[in-house]
Amino acid sequence: MKFFLDSANLDEIREAASLGMLDGVTTNPTLIAKEGGVDFKQHIAAICEIVRGDVSAEVTSLDAEGMLREGREYARVAPNVIIKCPLTREGLKTTRQLASEGIRVNVTLCFSAAQAILAAKAGASYISPFMGRLDDVGQNGLAVLADIVEIYRNYEWQTEVLASSVRGPVHVIEAARIGADVATMPFKVLEQLFNHPLTDKGLEQFLSDWHKGGRK
Ligand code: E4P
Repeated sequence: MKFFLDSANLDEIREAASLGMLDGVTTNPTLIAKEGGVDFKQHIAAICEIVRGDVSAEVTSLDAEGMLREGREYARVAPNVIIKCPLTREGLKTTRQLASEGIRVNVTLCFSAAQAILAAKAGASYISPFMGRLDDVGQNGLAVLADIVEIYRNYEWQTEVLASSVRGPVHVIEAARIGADVATMPFKVLEQLFNHPLTDKGLEQFLSDWHKGGRK
């Protein structure tokens, strides 16, 4: 399973890259806004300098014409830019057109298997089911993810399943069990994956014994 960082923060992205496990980055308008008035294209370019893998840049137009204009413009920023389009009719029309031009698209804001089927048929490179936001409204985000992975396995679609809206390590573990191609996670969740109190306790014990022991 590939690991993407769901962040637009350059320090977090550098830190995650230094761990040697970062396969890509997803951004969205909220994450970009958190960085405070940055120039969007310059910021995406800066992320692409750090990460060689796929970096998602989201369009903000609502109509296909505007999305296409933005998509073509952002795709020129770097070869590893993926255009993120919402799962709307206009978004999927845009996906189909961009894909036909060789521009890869991550279809975002997916909340059902039916929507995921449409995205694959439109030629999306990635489909992003939002697990945490489904959980937030009392639905089962992991069950939707599992349905999508199962359905995609029946066909030759090239669309990768990108488990999104990840809220904790259990989402990552379960997404891996289900067989999602990618999980995108906030920096905090990436850090949480490393932690286990028994590792800390065990290390402390080993070092204390090492320093106490009489070695030759
Ligand atoms: C995915 O690409 C989105 O940026 C993201 O996973 C949304 O997560 P959230 O529900 O935590 O905002």
